[in-house]
Amino acid sequence: MQRTLVLLKPDCVQRRLMGTIIKRFECKGLNIVAMKMIRVTPELARQHYAEHVDKPFYPSLEDFITSAPVVAMAIDGLEVISVVRDILGATSGLKAAAGTIRGDYSSSRQMNLVHASDSEESAARELELYFDASELCEYEPVATAFMRASDE
Ligand code: PPS
Repeated sequence: MQRTLVLLKPDCVQRRLMGTIIKRFECKGLNIVAMKMIRVTPELARQHYAEHVDKPFYPSLEDFITSAPVVAMAIDGLEVISVVRDILGATSGLKAAAGTIRGDYSSSRQMNLVHASDSEESAARELELYFDASELCEYEPVATAFMRASDE
C-alpha cells in the first residue's frame, strides 16, 4: 500500500472541476484519507517546487499556484503513485492522452489542473509539507472486498 499527495490546483478550483476530478479517484477505488482547501504561500511554493526554483518558468509557476486556493489530498492505494500519475496523464495538457484528466480538461503545461507526487521519496516529502499526522484519517473501506481479490 502506498500514499501520495494530490493537489487540485487553482485552475481546477476556479473552473469548478473539483468534483469531476475527485470522482475519478473515487471511481478508481482509491482511498482519500485527508483533504483540505488551503492557500499556498510563496514560502510553501518554494518548498514544494524546490527542484524548479531556479528554472526560468518558476516565477510564473509561483504566481499561478498562489493565485487562488488549492485542495490538498492524501490518497492511499496499491501502487497509488503511478496509478494517479497515469490517471493525470502527461504534464502538458497538449501532450496528455485523451481519457486522462489533463488530456480531457487541460491545454496547458502550467495550468494542468492537478499535481501528484512522482516517487515514494517525493510523496513522503510533499505529504509532510501539506499535512500533520493528526490530519490523516485512515479507515478500511467496506467496498474493498468487491474492489480486488484478497491476494492482490
Ligand atoms: S513532472 O510531471 O512533475 O515531471 O513535470 P515537470 O516537467 O518536471 O514540471 C514540474 C512542474 O512545473 C510545471 N512546469 C511549468 N510551469 C510553467 N511553465 C513551464 N514551462 C513549465 N514546465 C513545467 C509543471 O506544471 C509541473 O507542475 P506540477 O504541479 O508538478 O504538475
